[in-house]
Amino acid sequence: MAVDTEPLLQIREKISLGQPASVLILMPHYGYYGHPVPKLVEALALREVPHPVDLTTTSANQVMLDPADLRLIRTTHLLAKSPRSWVRVLRRLREERYDFVCVSETPIAVQRVFYQAMALLANGRRVRYLRILRGRYTPEPLTWPGFLRDLLRPRTLRTLAARLGNLASRRRRSPRSLGLPSRYLIEITNVCNLSCPLCPTGQNAITHGQGMMDFEKYKQLIDECAPSMEHLDLYNFGEPLLHPKFTEMVAHAKAKGVGTVQVSTNANIDLTPDRARRLIECGLDNIVVACDGADQETYAKYRVRGRLDKLIAFVRLLSDEKRRLGRVTPQIIVRFIPMRHNEHQVEVMERLAYEWGADKFVRYNLSLFYGRDKGNFDKFHPTNEKYKTFVLVQENGVEVAKCVFVQRCAAAWETFNIAWNGKAIPCCADFDATQNFGDVFEEGARAVWNGPRIQAFRRQFIRDKNQIPLCRDCDNIA
Ligand SMILES: C[S@@+](CC[C@H](N)C(=O)[O-])C[C@H]1O[C@@H](n2cnc3c(N)ncnc32)[C@H](O)[C@@H]1O
Ligand code: SF4
Repeated sequence: MAVDTEPLLQIREKISLGQPASVLILMPHYGYYGHPVPKLVEALALREVPHPVDLTTTSANQVMLDPADLRLIRTTHLLAKSPRSWVRVLRRLREERYDFVCVSETPIAVQRVFYQAMALLANGRRVRYLRILRGRYTPEPLTWPGFLRDLLRPRTLRTLAARLGNLASRRRRSPRSLGLPSRYLIEITNVCNLSCPLCPTGQNAITHGQGMMDFEKYKQLIDECAPSMEHLDLYNFGEPLLHPKFTEMVAHAKAKGVGTVQVSTNANIDLTPDRARRLIECGLDNIVVACDGADQETYAKYRVRGRLDKLIAFVRLLSDEKRRLGRVTPQIIVRFIPMRHNEHQVEVMERLAYEWGADKFVRYNLSLFYGRDKGNFDKFHPTNEKYKTFVLVQENGVEVAKCVFVQRCAAAWETFNIAWNGKAIPCCADFDATQNFGDVFEEGARAVWNGPRIQAFRRQFIRDKNQIPLCRDCDNIA
């Protein structure tokens, strides 16, 4: 990362004189963008000096740090999740005098303009903005005129309006959601090469048909929704890299201006250098590699029919090609779900992930979306309290697993979820399209988004969501 050297030289000088130095990084909570910390460790040559730097971040997402870096940095997290906490954070930022402030790029407009404004209000002159352009970091000074230019871009205004419209509709408990949403999940296929025991696809439990999304129809959908599309997940229950047009699909979305495009893969794919290059050059932002075991035996207990050696070769090759091409995207994120049979491997898995070339390692909570019965709980749920996601409760005299995390759900107002065959569904959990809002290929996304079926669903959700079997059985809604 070629960060502006002047402020960095000043910090380095302070550190070498034995004086404390402080750095503020404003970065998004959401998604996987913003991994400037390891780069900063590198740029400051922190490993060569004995004095740690005080690092303040606006995300608690520590997992982005290499464990070795944690010894070099004392971190404070300023969580800014609500307007009230933003004010608190801003006050705190104004009181501090940081040696270096940087804002990490996020294509999510609401967060981008918010963080830029905070940084400018807090510590104007020393701010650097780390923009990721064409897969490379391009640090640039952040100024008020630059901020206003960004804020007033038609795309930023459109996506901000979409967010505010969705939010207002949800708050007013309206069955109509103003404007198309900014978050999308498009399941480009629900076919898979593995047989994971808690996945409906892996267990052949899908009854509404399996297949690959038609490329021409996908393009038509993107063209209609792209103007306000900030984030796109190109997967649900299936292996997206099996789609023969995968890289073309990503490239099309990026060409239409979509902010982040993200995918999750089992990486049991024969990756050639040529395919790795295409995965990088298509503009993909994040690639989550699902890896639930540090050795073949443990790995294959959940990733049934999977081969760990293939996954490792995949990560290594993709990482090598990125380095060769000088690119920072796609970020390779190794995702590990602690379960009963692998929970003892979290630390070793983290070390291995970085060794293979991952940019980031994340732990992910176990979900029992396909079977909350006691049998699955006993077999898969981890025993370590740190990884606990479910408890057993009595329901109609039977013991079932209940998720310990509950949150308010606004999916039907704020995210558009589309199955491989064009059916619009309320959220990722509806793998069998039990709540079919309409066919976006036949009727058009805009018509479906506020069509009679989705409005009836929202009405029922507001009245009593427990009357909707999908929501009643959902792992984690309040
Ligand atoms: C259903 S998979 C589909 C994409 C791809 N086939 C894969 O495995 O990454 C999407 C995500 O769900 C996660 N996943 C699979 N089984 C899970 C479970 N029981 N609980 C929570 N997440 C799970 C995977 O780690 C993956 O990142
Ligand atoms: S690899 Fe992914 S889609 Fe395939 S069975 Fe496993 S979790 Fe499901």
